[in-house]
Amino acid sequence: MCGIVGYIGERQAYPILIKGLHRLEYRGYDSAGVAMIAANKNLNVFKCKGKVSDLEKFTEGKDKSGNIGIGHTRWATHGEPNDVNAHPHYSQSGDIVLLHNGIIENYASIKENLEKRGHTFRSQTDTEVLVHLIEEIKEKDNIKLSYAVIAALKQVVGAYAILVMDKNNPNELVAAKKGSPLVIGVGEEEFFVASDASPIIEYTKNVVYLDDEQVAIIKRNEELKIRNLKDKDVTPYVQELEMELEAIEKGGYEHFMLKEIYEQPRSIRDSMRGRLNADKAIVQLGGIVDYEPKFLKAKRIIIIACGTSWHAGLVAEYLFEEYARIPVEVEYASEFRYRNPVIYEDDIVIAISQSGETADTLAAIELAKSKGATIIGVCNVVGSSIARATHAGSYTHAGPEIGVASTKAFTAQVTVLTLMALHIAYKKGTIIESRYRQLLYELDAIPEKVERVLKLNDKIKHIAEIHKDARNFLYLGRGYSFPVALEGALKLKEISYIHAEGYPAAEMKHGPIALIDEEMPVVVIATKGPNYEKVVSTIQEIKARKGKIIAVVNEGDKEVKKTADYVIEIPETDESLVPLVSVVPLQLLSYHIAVMRGCNVDQPRNLAKSVTVE
Ligand code: G6P
Repeated sequence: MCGIVGYIGERQAYPILIKGLHRLEYRGYDSAGVAMIAANKNLNVFKCKGKVSDLEKFTEGKDKSGNIGIGHTRWATHGEPNDVNAHPHYSQSGDIVLLHNGIIENYASIKENLEKRGHTFRSQTDTEVLVHLIEEIKEKDNIKLSYAVIAALKQVVGAYAILVMDKNNPNELVAAKKGSPLVIGVGEEEFFVASDASPIIEYTKNVVYLDDEQVAIIKRNEELKIRNLKDKDVTPYVQELEMELEAIEKGGYEHFMLKEIYEQPRSIRDSMRGRLNADKAIVQLGGIVDYEPKFLKAKRIIIIACGTSWHAGLVAEYLFEEYARIPVEVEYASEFRYRNPVIYEDDIVIAISQSGETADTLAAIELAKSKGATIIGVCNVVGSSIARATHAGSYTHAGPEIGVASTKAFTAQVTVLTLMALHIAYKKGTIIESRYRQLLYELDAIPEKVERVLKLNDKIKHIAEIHKDARNFLYLGRGYSFPVALEGALKLKEISYIHAEGYPAAEMKHGPIALIDEEMPVVVIATKGPNYEKVVSTIQEIKARKGKIIAVVNEGDKEVKKTADYVIEIPETDESLVPLVSVVPLQLLSYHIAVMRGCNVDQPRNLAKSVTVE
């Protein structure tokens, strides 16, 4: 995690850095720092615990001038979040400063050797070790900063995006990456560096995405140069950003999360655009077309993901098994990668990730790849590490998701996976034509149904008000609604810090029922489908134990209404598409509860948008 930003050009760097850090704050927000070289050659470094706004206060009245600078917003890995551990970090002499996103895994042994050679360290971070090593190499070998960076990185095990600046050379920034993302904006006689394009977009649309093990030498009034760790020059590939500025702004909403919840009718539509023609019963997924034969022959699909993406994977399990008749295993990437899993060459591995950066998912992909499996990506961030590590894939096209709690990315993932499962089923002949057509029509109608759910906002807010002080929540669902129960519980705990558990409704009697009393709100997804009657029985069991029932039902439901304390009526859809509609009220419920509890909805404590470390 962590956000990196840098500037070199004619403008004042500080305002660009601060604005950029605000945009990158979703990546980490426990401390922040900036460094600028002023015209008088002073290196001014300001860093402190807290958010970017705390850093702004901290720098008030101080010399922030300079048209070269670097900035960082941190999600702590090594060393607690405090002023000293905040980035940038200094070299031994204090002349070189460096910021880092990722983990230097072998930092302890490098540190030990540096200490033996007289280095002293100010912080507990792995990052500081790297900047000391760079300076030592630079001085010992009397080489330029960029060469010293390359030499140092050859000794490093781990993941990184780094940005380095030398007080003695105010005309150069050096950036490098492996695993963690880094993008360079190429303006008119100016350059921008950032962890993603959001801090750059208002200045230039021309960007270069660094590849792993590449080092960018960014000099004032010179062309951008890139070298790789094999000491070869690489021609920078400048591409035009497709993103618009509005996509990364709040657009009048109080929080990004609310904006993103409300964007879902559009984002679901975007994820189907050019792929679904319900009238002609055509599904086209251009990104996986070359791998269709492998899909059709696959004896097994393994889905790897983390967090919310893992929940989307569970929905996909039901879809692929029901319609394409392919056995599916859904794995936490972090478990999969370390348990010596059995992987066959004819396995299809689907890796799901919003950010395309999650370290565990990336490592699980590499493992599966090394065993010869075919890896299909379902990512949101175009050009991300996971998207590039997979053999093929389908982007979700949900647009930038900035709120840390994932909402529109989930529904876009489920939409793309639904298209994939139905398409493969149709090609395999495991679904009859009429059912296939019916499902495509239903899928096409989902955005309009989500629109209707959003109109229930006031009612959901009212339910939130009543339950905002609860200490625990239980979420129950069966079949396709079980992953939704998990996702609903995750949303609530992520942003409101209320303990919440998701359970398959029928499992309730094997444990969670012991927790139920008049203090326990139980959210039950009880939409029409083959399990409806059984879920109604579960609701009775909860009621008998005085639990408070908040039921998500279909419009016009009469049965559940008799028992539930509160009902949220959502439009009816096919059972296998219910998650796309039923998750929306649960997102809104969590959102309102968190706001009412005074929580920072977009930046919940201890979390970060993408987890680029183990
Ligand atoms: C973090 C985020 C979650 C996300 C998970 C997986 O924990 O806070 O919202 O679901 O990572 O991220 P990915 O980008 O791989 O989907």
